[in-house]
Amino acid sequence: MYYIGIDLGTSSLKLLLMDAAGTIHNTVTKEYPLEFPQPGWSQQNPGDWEKALLEGFPELIEGFDAGLIRGIGCGGQMHGLVVLDENDNVIRPAILWNDGRTAKQVDYLNEVIGKEKLSQLTANIAFAGFTAPKILWMEENEPENFARIAKIMLPKDYINYILTGVHSCDYSDASGMLLLDVEHKCWSKEMLEICHISEAQMPKLFESYECIGCVTPEMAQKLGLPANVKVVAGAGDNAAAAVGTGVVGEGGCNISLGTSGTVFISSEKFGVDDTNSLHAFAHADGGWHLMGCMLSAASCNKWLLEDILGTSDHAAEQAAITEAKLGENHVFFLPYLMGERSPINDSNARGTLIGMTMDTSRADVVQAVLEGVAFAIRDSVEVARSLGIAINTSKICGGGAKSPLWKRIFANVLNCELQVPVSEQGPGMGGAMLAMVACGEYASVKDCCKALCSVASTVKPEPDLVAKYEARYAQFRKIYPAVRAIFPEIQ
Ligand code: XUL
Repeated sequence: MYYIGIDLGTSSLKLLLMDAAGTIHNTVTKEYPLEFPQPGWSQQNPGDWEKALLEGFPELIEGFDAGLIRGIGCGGQMHGLVVLDENDNVIRPAILWNDGRTAKQVDYLNEVIGKEKLSQLTANIAFAGFTAPKILWMEENEPENFARIAKIMLPKDYINYILTGVHSCDYSDASGMLLLDVEHKCWSKEMLEICHISEAQMPKLFESYECIGCVTPEMAQKLGLPANVKVVAGAGDNAAAAVGTGVVGEGGCNISLGTSGTVFISSEKFGVDDTNSLHAFAHADGGWHLMGCMLSAASCNKWLLEDILGTSDHAAEQAAITEAKLGENHVFFLPYLMGERSPINDSNARGTLIGMTMDTSRADVVQAVLEGVAFAIRDSVEVARSLGIAINTSKICGGGAKSPLWKRIFANVLNCELQVPVSEQGPGMGGAMLAMVACGEYASVKDCCKALCSVASTVKPEPDLVAKYEARYAQFRKIYPAVRAIFPEIQ
């Protein structure tokens, strides 16, 4: 039997075809544009996701016996506000997870409604990328659009709607809306009232591994699928990636280095970080997780190399970083190209290069960017450690994890052993695995992970480099507090 995993990312939709024993038979990637209509704003057209889906599916299954396809699961970029009118037409482009336009609404929620109340109601406070402040932004700035909203969805739920005609959402993704009572897994009536929306406008909630329905006959015909292919509720991309890397149950950790960078700590029990620096969300295995999310991770490296230096040869740039320079770089980079979420929650923050001298080389700057991203992830890891969570071992996945040098820098900056999974297809693989559980191939998400997730290699911290990076991290930590006040002035 085959299962299809969908990874609805920020730059592309990735599809994979997998069997129940975990062999990936085919993958297809379809890219789409990302709009930055103003500095710090970020949006995307759901129609582009749909187009990628319609083009990608036939390519994915060509040459395979489509009659053997049983289920589909999607892991998607989180928090994006997708709004549909009463005819299920998209009202405006989706406002994405890394959009920073809602500073005013975030202040209202955190200061007027109050962080304590938000945390009681939803286990979280407001961050610019979360969905609730975007709803308030729309009400204030686009009242005509706001008045037309019949359904509010997240990005992967729009894909599931296209496939099945069902308006659904799973608990992991719903957690990032600031509208869900995460502990009790239901919409928070008070939060809906605060955002001037009703439960009828919200999708139906499911566990990630539950079936929401089957692909409609019209869509099955368009995509070349047999009748009765089941679609699961799926998950936010980080929860799906954690499933794909086997981070389920108590105390697992996954670091994802994609457009965003996240540290994801799984738990069987509901728990909140008292400082609310880490998100407290539901997991796709039926449990919960804490997560720190930085808005620009692998995208910082891509920006520097491709947009600024005009090269796509990442390996050549990294080859110029010599062994002697590791832990010795005097150039530092604050990776806040889209503002920052965890743990500083500052949508005014901006990318900053500091420490250059006349002998600073191109390689030093490239290295500073790789290190700056690792230091910023360490900021979230330190919050977790301060809560008594030991992070000595973690899985690592995402595009940035393909670089051996970057993985080594991470292992030493975090002083943490990094395990590289056999398959790098985090969210897509997790999506397909959730579908396998819904179709009865495995009794639970945990069982499925036990059977399908294994480690290909391990990157160990090296004591000399750990000590050098410890000193560099102490310096890095002083930079943001020293420059923070200037950011709002230089927008
Ligand atoms: C998580 C987050 C990002 C997006 C990226 O809170 O905002 O990781 O899900 O796709």
